[in-house]
Amino acid sequence: MKPTCHIADAVIGDGPADSPVESTLSALGAALKARDAGTHAHSQRLTSYALALGRLLGLPRTELLTLERGVFLHDIGKTYVSEGILRKSGPLSRTEWVEMRLHSAIGYGIASSIPGLRAAAPIVLAHHEWYDGTGYPRGLKGSDIPLGARICSVVDTVDALTSVRPYRFPLSMVKACDQVWSESGTHFDPLVVDAFLAIPPAEWEQLQSSITRKLRLPQPEQVLSVRGRSSRRACTAFRRTF
Ligand SMILES: [Fe+2]
Repeated sequence: MKPTCHIADAVIGDGPADSPVESTLSALGAALKARDAGTHAHSQRLTSYALALGRLLGLPRTELLTLERGVFLHDIGKTYVSEGILRKSGPLSRTEWVEMRLHSAIGYGIASSIPGLRAAAPIVLAHHEWYDGTGYPRGLKGSDIPLGARICSVVDTVDALTSVRPYRFPLSMVKACDQVWSESGTHFDPLVVDAFLAIPPAEWEQLQSSITRKLRLPQPEQVLSVRGRSSRRACTAFRRTF
């Protein structure tokens, strides 16, 4: 399968930037950025990745617009998660996981309460469902999971794997592709995995770099070149720039 568009041609929008829906999206994005800038940057990257996949899968413009909004808002529910949990660098306790997992349902409540964003709300709710039915919050399976959420799931994992985290170095895009392939049919929809793998890793890396430049964040290699420090200190330095 070949890409039908340049993957850097990402954001589609829906009219003037000061339209009610776009203004609401900007406000929600600002709230997320104030709460956790790392999550906001993550949402920006995911939106571009998801649109590239949506176009490759042949989604019509209206569905691309819903995908764009749903993916951008996918973690908006984290604005209600405790700061101590969001910023915790180690593993979460059982109780903390219970709170963290509420973010998809909380985000659904936020999106579905705004008329122009209701169509995107199911993507927010289902972005942690697994193709084999073992995800949350409802344990949906296969095509019962909205396609936008199945796309979001793949790009969410890819971005997590390829981003610098306080507790580990990022994987290369090639290794992230291997990971996605290994979870096809369990975590991920094979159709979406095939589309993701149809785009060469180098093109995904170019898109990642262009978004990082646009957001004026340091490139991961700028951080990783700080070999004089321990890996933990270098990763922490990157996180503090968000
Ligand atoms: Fe999430």
